[in-house]
Amino acid sequence: MKSVVYFRTGGPSVLQLVDRDMTEPGPGEVRVHIIVSGVNPTDWKSRRGSGDGAAPPFPEVTPNQDGAGVVDALGEGVENLAVGDRVWVYLAGHQRPTGTAQEYTNLPARRVVRLPAGTSFDIGASLGVPAMTAHRALTVSEDGPGRLHPGVLADKVVLVAGGAGAVGHAAIQLARWAGATVITTISGPAKAALATAAGAHHVINYRDENAATAITKVARDGVDLIVEVAIAANSQLNLDVAKPRASVAIYANDGGGEFALPIRPNMIKNLRYQFVLLYTVGDAALTAAVEDITLALAHEALPVGENAGLPLHRFPLANTADAHQAVQDGAVGKVLIDVP
Ligand SMILES: NC(=O)c1ccc[n+]([C@@H]2O[C@H](COP(=O)([O-])OP(=O)(O)OC[C@H]3O[C@@H](n4cnc5c(N)ncnc54)[C@H](OP(=O)(O)O)[C@@H]3O)[C@@H](O)[C@H]2O)c1
Repeated sequence: MKSVVYFRTGGPSVLQLVDRDMTEPGPGEVRVHIIVSGVNPTDWKSRRGSGDGAAPPFPEVTPNQDGAGVVDALGEGVENLAVGDRVWVYLAGHQRPTGTAQEYTNLPARRVVRLPAGTSFDIGASLGVPAMTAHRALTVSEDGPGRLHPGVLADKVVLVAGGAGAVGHAAIQLARWAGATVITTISGPAKAALATAAGAHHVINYRDENAATAITKVARDGVDLIVEVAIAANSQLNLDVAKPRASVAIYANDGGGEFALPIRPNMIKNLRYQFVLLYTVGDAALTAAVEDITLALAHEALPVGENAGLPLHRFPLANTADAHQAVQDGAVGKVLIDVP
């Protein structure tokens, strides 16, 4: 089979296309024939590591956590999946060397999820990191809900920072599906059109206008939940627009790695800050995300593509380095790799 691997951390050029033997899935594992591999910032950040030339955690690593394809073989003890099932996978390369940038990959059965009939591989490969992170961010509020389904956010106002980003896009879609009023911030008209296509009710350009004033105009009582990609840049904005007992779910350090909080105004509003990292979120949160995302897929609530606010950028497997470079360069939308 064709596989993309790296032996040393560094720039996209460390990625090499090689031939490898297929391996049998171990007990509790599933082998998936990957059709589409999804690329996320975490994939290039892991490949880059702490510096050029360092040894990765395994002698040889195949990148990319997300993907979609068809179950090809079952390891001993796997009962909830069958050969031929169309599936999406998550955390394929977490604490193991076998990501999705290859024709076949083995992974624990719990990280392999059946796609509802009619859900495309492109959608499947776009779910793992973005949709599961968005699900966690939307379910960490003090007053709940802890699970998502239609109507459960009906009385909530959700602010999604960066609604044209991959996680932001998924957060808009899931929040909208769950019935929230969704406000999002973006940096320009093209991204505004994408966030609107994703389903945001109100789109605010945080560069052009006073975002706090604009948000308060459409959410007079403030917002209940903030899905935050750039807390260092947005902490004052969040404080200005948050309702008492609102939660701020912080899943990234884009635009700065540290921030300071004034204690008294935060205390007065009883605000809650919840950090989110998919790798350490725990099995209960992963299971909740899988189940709720599966329901959202059945409702066709998570489409991808330009018309749905997430333009797709495709690369062949041999050009995985270009796909990584595109994500690293801030491609707007979703970078996918056609594997076969
Ligand atoms: N914690 C986790 O488990 C987890 C999971 C997934 C992703 N992440 C991280 O989250 C980040 C985003 O991932 P992604 O795949 O969504 O990337 P992406 O598709 O590149 O989106 C990032 C978005 O953030 C927006 N942004 C940057 N600064 C902003 C600001 N001050 N206000 C509002 N929006 C702002 C960008 O748009 P503009 O620059 O135009 O504003 C862009 O649309 C990455 O750092 C990634 O590593 C973490």
